[in-house]
Amino acid sequence: MKKLFIAGNWKSNYGVANISEWLGKFSLTREDVPVILCVPFTLLYDMKQQIQSRGIPITLGAQNVSPFEEGAYTGEIAASQIKELALWVIIGHSERRKFFFETDQMLQKKVEQAKRVGLKIIYCVPDDNSSVPIGVDVIAYEPVWAIGSGVSDTPENANKVIESIKSKTNVPTVIYGGSVTDQNVSSFVNTYAIDGVLPGGASLDPEKFSLLIKAASEHS
Ligand code: PGA
Repeated sequence: MKKLFIAGNWKSNYGVANISEWLGKFSLTREDVPVILCVPFTLLYDMKQQIQSRGIPITLGAQNVSPFEEGAYTGEIAASQIKELALWVIIGHSERRKFFFETDQMLQKKVEQAKRVGLKIIYCVPDDNSSVPIGVDVIAYEPVWAIGSGVSDTPENANKVIESIKSKTNVPTVIYGGSVTDQNVSSFVNTYAIDGVLPGGASLDPEKFSLLIKAASEHS
């Protein structure tokens, strides 16, 4: 049986006031499936407190990291600051590449900063021709057109691209992201090469996200 990797990405959604209700409606039927939740920086502290006190086996992640160490970089959150509250970080998401002009060179620096403090990295790429810095833990194949569009890639094509990414990078865990739902998740995790999923929109609704994890774990 495949070891599944599921990471939700809340993007720039929700405030502290939403955490309690979300966690109250989230349920895991199998605790052996690791679930990562990448929330806005402003929610990491409260999220950490609440998942600990409720005993919910979610591991926290951030969605971005500064390419610099701590210091005079107004508005940036350094890797060491994230590490106090989270274990994972998403680097290279297509929304950061598109809206914040993040280049491969900058992403390389972000990876270096994250590695330096021991953060684990989910590195997003839009295809199998993108460069991937050494040292990333998980790659997420996310075709730009499939993100938030409601139109996912086909499991067959995603499997093919992911096989190619694996052969080019030697990163053993490669997941798919782009309009993954509780309805289509099993078709992705049932393939040979896809190790898990990175749902964005579908992680915002705790009941849907719970169903998605259940469906994925039953079919993998
Ligand atoms: P989506 O987002 O599931 O809403 O398409 C995925 C992502 O951007 O990581």
